[in-house]
Amino acid sequence: MKDSAIPKFFEKSRKERLKIVKDFSSLTEEEIKLLENQNGGISFEKADKMVENAIGTFSLPLGIATNFQINGKDYVIPMVIEEPSVIAAASKGAKVARILGGFQVKADESYSIGQIQMLDVDNSLAIKDIQKSSEKILEIANSKSKTLSKIGKGAKEVSCKEIDTPKGKMLIIELLIDVGDAMGANVTNTMCEAISPFLEEITGGRSLLRILSNYSTRRIAKARAVFEKDAVGGEDVVDNIILAFEFADNDIFRAVTHNKGIMNGIISVANATGQDSRAIEAAANAFAVHNGRYGSLTQWSKDKNGNLIGNIELPLSVGIVGGIINVHPMAKICTKILGITSAQELACIMASVGLAQNFSAIRALTTEGIQKGHMKLHAKNIAFAAGAKPEQIEKIVQKMIQENNISLNRAKELLEQI
Ligand code: MEV
Repeated sequence: MKDSAIPKFFEKSRKERLKIVKDFSSLTEEEIKLLENQNGGISFEKADKMVENAIGTFSLPLGIATNFQINGKDYVIPMVIEEPSVIAAASKGAKVARILGGFQVKADESYSIGQIQMLDVDNSLAIKDIQKSSEKILEIANSKSKTLSKIGKGAKEVSCKEIDTPKGKMLIIELLIDVGDAMGANVTNTMCEAISPFLEEITGGRSLLRILSNYSTRRIAKARAVFEKDAVGGEDVVDNIILAFEFADNDIFRAVTHNKGIMNGIISVANATGQDSRAIEAAANAFAVHNGRYGSLTQWSKDKNGNLIGNIELPLSVGIVGGIINVHPMAKICTKILGITSAQELACIMASVGLAQNFSAIRALTTEGIQKGHMKLHAKNIAFAAGAKPEQIEKIVQKMIQENNISLNRAKELLEQI
């Protein structure tokens, strides 16, 4: 069985790390070459086809989080992020979680929601007409995706709701679509646009917006992990982490930062696998509102043995087919590194990374604070910028931290003394 608890991964050279990932995920020589490529994966010609007015490409660091065990399976997790400490924190959280079995996660099947705003109608009559014609509506929608229909997926339900607005009650028609392993934005929008002429015909109304809802409440992932109390740092740390959670869950100023830490992990995996990170962020933030109040996306408590229990629940609208994965070779390789076979499996991984991230952040905040770790990384970057070789860096870092003088000048002086 594969083991993602790879000792001292962070101390290895790039070549050694690549070799470990290659073996873990059965990457080809060609894929390794692409990972080694300096341009971050896409040519300008590709970029120019992806967006308008392109003038270049922009790469970010791609790192690997280790130690993850999710539903009994080990994963090495690619993360794309500019912020130091995030990948280390995810790996540390996963290391503690795996002592008592890792992450237990469940993700919904991928149902996407499309919305059509219908105006100038008698809402209750229109609702009846729509209900009567629901089969035909689904048929028109499904005619737009033979791929989904062929595998028994596609549009499954039409429903109506009335919303109150300052301009009076408004009719909103919602289409529920099983999008399988795709994120599904395109197919959802296409289906909404396809059914709207028919909806206008049967209701006599005027459809205005026809668009996917990014509030993907039918794509929820729930992860749980138990963190062994001594590995967490003892009873006091467990209790303090629970108090830190209560702070976040009851104060929006703290909750936004707490959830930002969770998104550090989730969005890094989203970036690596070519997801629509804005959609994920927008949905997660809306979902963080419980009973009309913005709160924590995670919950922390303890079991009868004093171990820390973490739970996270959030919508994750992700895909492993279509979209950028078809275009961006790095997204394709990162998906292969994960060794996943479904969008649900990706959602399970992302929820686990979010929980691990939150654990490490609040553990650090309730103990030594986060600056110590940050300063070490900062010092490493400074030593590197001063021209230190890998084997010289640690010495210079230690000295600068000891002297409380982390600066390029000092790093250069120390380098001369080595
Ligand atoms: C920094 O990117 C994230 C944290 O601020 C999260 C938190 O405060 O929980 C450390």
